Amino acid sequence: MVAYEHILVEQGDGIAVVRLNRPKVLNALSTPLMTELVEALEALDADDTVRCIVLTGNERAFAAGADIGEMADVSAVEMLKRNQFARWERIRKVRKPLIAAVSGYALGGGCELAMMCDMIVASESARFGQPEILIGIIPGAGGTQRLTRAVGKALAMEMVLTGRQITAREAFAAGLVNRVVPNELCLESAMHLAKEVAARPPLAVMMGKDAVLKTYDMTLEAGLDAERKNFFLLFSTEDMREGMAAFLEKRPPQWKGK
Ligand code: CAA
Repeated sequence: MVAYEHILVEQGDGIAVVRLNRPKVLNALSTPLMTELVEALEALDADDTVRCIVLTGNERAFAAGADIGEMADVSAVEMLKRNQFARWERIRKVRKPLIAAVSGYALGGGCELAMMCDMIVASESARFGQPEILIGIIPGAGGTQRLTRAVGKALAMEMVLTGRQITAREAFAAGLVNRVVPNELCLESAMHLAKEVAARPPLAVMMGKDAVLKTYDMTLEAGLDAERKNFFLLFSTEDMREGMAAFLEKRPPQWKGK
């Protein structure tokens, strides 16, 4: 197992848990942390034993955003050269399902990171927000786009323009999170969801994620076409033969990931 400085990684039974681990600064997403996170996620994505990845923080914070200390003195040209969002783009390319288990603050880049995950399990204590406006900027890692798609224009605009944080319950009502659970059950509930996904045929899971995400950047016609191609492709897998045979023989399927 690779030793990281800013994150902790554990894996077993098809599930990997990646924990952001800069508790003193509420898991502010510094460049070294993001570098490790991307490396870890790519390694887990390439590991055949991993079926689903859970990303979490601690009780107080999932992550309170990009590291403000790293940005305070930087010019636009330096920001452009730094190209820090290239790392975020690599997270977008992870093909295995990502589930965020969010307790406490998920602000700025923290909210954006949670929204890059495929599902979000929130504890009662979770607070989601894009407070960049309060420090003179706007979201830069997809917040204006993913938040608006998730919760609609009215609430997204309010959050982006005022910096107001929303509670876990509001986030659930707005469609941002999959479920809200008591604080002490957050990781357990995310693991439960991850186990359910991990028990499904992995190639179909990968194609399903790919097809759902296509809605983000395609017209309906192109998206339907992409879905159909993924659908047809799955007819070349052993798992599809097994899944349908098992259904007809009234027995549980045995997935091979082939
Ligand atoms: N970057 C760097 N350090 C941070 C941080 C951040 N985003 N968020 C919190 N910290 C640090 C604080 O500076 C403090 O450090 P010290 O103990 O050394 O002073 C420590 O974490 C604890 O924070 P607070 O004392 O502020 O804790 P609090 O409970 O009083 O407040 C909070 C919590 C409301 C989340 C507050 O910390 C806060 O407002 N944080 C900043 C949130 C923010 O603006 N996020 C957006 C960043 S920009 C961005 O993310 C751009 C993008 O789109 C990628």
